[in-house]
Amino acid sequence: MKLTLAAGKLLNQKTDALIVGIYREKLTKSAEAVDKASKNALSSLIKEGDATGCLGTVGIFPNFPGIAAKRLVVVGLGKEEDGVLNFQKALSSALKAVYFVKTAVISCTDWFDLSPEWIAEQVSCTAIDVLEKSVDYKSNPDRPAWKQPKSVSLFVEEKTPELTTAFAEGAVIGKGIKLAKELGDAPANLCTPKYMAEQCMKLGSSLKFDVTVFEEKALNKLKMGCFLGVAAGSKQPAYMIVMEYNGGQKKESPVALVGKGLTFDAGGISLKPAKGMDEMKYDMSGAASIVAAMATAASLKLPINIVGVIGCTENLPSGSAVKPGDILCSYSGKTVEVLNTDAEGRLVLCDLLSYTIDKFKPILVVDAATLTGACVVALGHEYTGLFSNNEELALELLQAGENSLDKCWRLPLGRAYTKALKSRFADLANIGAPGAGACTAAAFLQEFVGKTPWAHLDIAGTAWSSGEEKGSTGRPVPLLISFLKDLTH
Ligand code: BES
Ligand code: MN
Ligand code: ZN
Repeated sequence: MKLTLAAGKLLNQKTDALIVGIYREKLTKSAEAVDKASKNALSSLIKEGDATGCLGTVGIFPNFPGIAAKRLVVVGLGKEEDGVLNFQKALSSALKAVYFVKTAVISCTDWFDLSPEWIAEQVSCTAIDVLEKSVDYKSNPDRPAWKQPKSVSLFVEEKTPELTTAFAEGAVIGKGIKLAKELGDAPANLCTPKYMAEQCMKLGSSLKFDVTVFEEKALNKLKMGCFLGVAAGSKQPAYMIVMEYNGGQKKESPVALVGKGLTFDAGGISLKPAKGMDEMKYDMSGAASIVAAMATAASLKLPINIVGVIGCTENLPSGSAVKPGDILCSYSGKTVEVLNTDAEGRLVLCDLLSYTIDKFKPILVVDAATLTGACVVALGHEYTGLFSNNEELALELLQAGENSLDKCWRLPLGRAYTKALKSRFADLANIGAPGAGACTAAAFLQEFVGKTPWAHLDIAGTAWSSGEEKGSTGRPVPLLISFLKDLTH
């Protein structure tokens, strides 16, 4: 799919579909221009109820008078004061609706009060995300010959260098989101820890970042007892994958990104209930988002150094699996009593976090993990849970979430939660006293980061959707990229 900026006259755009927006209570500038040129044909349609300003509704009108385009597509924007929240919904509805045309021009820089550069980035990003074919595993696909436009253009008054850059970057981010979604949606019998390692190596060689794959033998040598404890029940070998992208100065310390990569989480001996267990194939979404963020950062050639570390394994019950009551010795030397084998994410992450800090001395670490069901209870599917030991870092992530519409909400750490992790026999237990499950999980991780500025993103509720639109969401890739881009300013 070709993505371009189109300047010139709106009414003269030769395209299969010209997309304009209307609010509930009024027209946008472009809709007004179309209305005038069509001698109020658009107003009549609205009066008749054929086109509405209700958010996300789409009307398609062939042979519309007054415009050079073959069809007029009218998308409802809701109320003007709703702003940015409506923008994303209207944009994706409009783009999804034109999947069958060859060419489309969208005029949306006049939607709400938003910067044209921000809009340009959103348009190319969303176009890739919603229109480009996604991998599926159906022998008889729902949409046989996948249809998508050959080109989608954003109508702008003037092609400025800023708009051109933003538009190009949006497409790269869109591809990153797509990559994370594909990894997340891939079934666990295909997407094994080994598969994750292979994907990283492929991406590293095409996008020019270094990839080192640590096999279990190497993890043993590093004394990653907690990570290996989780891996003990699975026949699939576990891997830690380290990706290094160097876009900054040689001596500059890197930013570190760490991801939970449970390619399947059955809970281990503390087995999960059968209902919905298939969804635990998404338990590598943190790792997928880190891989996608690395790939995107490398494509964008961000002028910083980034190290991405993911831990990939399965959590399965078996004769060799870790058992409740077992005590594991972490990379840091701290011992952990496993009171519930289903609290495995923190066991993988604790070794990864202390190793990453030890080895790379990063300026900051952000981890992403589908860590707790408790976070889904607390925040649902809207906000990612954010925990941090550093005010500035927390504020930067909150802001990046707002800017990218991939929002997070800060939740607390503190003595009370750390104390809840006391064990009778080891330094720490892997579960806390009842209550505040997302907070005690984060407090567990905090024990392994020392003074390094660190933030933890609990994406259990945001990385994938269940129900009718079941699937990976690609979150928190937009948040991570927005955050990384801000670090370069
Ligand atoms: N991967 C799960 C968390 C999860 C739950 C993600 C639901 C997405 C949706 C994690 O490994 C887990 O099982 N956590 C336990 C921790 C508990 C045993 C302390 C949980 O949340 O129930
Ligand atoms: Mn689990
Ligand atoms: Zn898990």
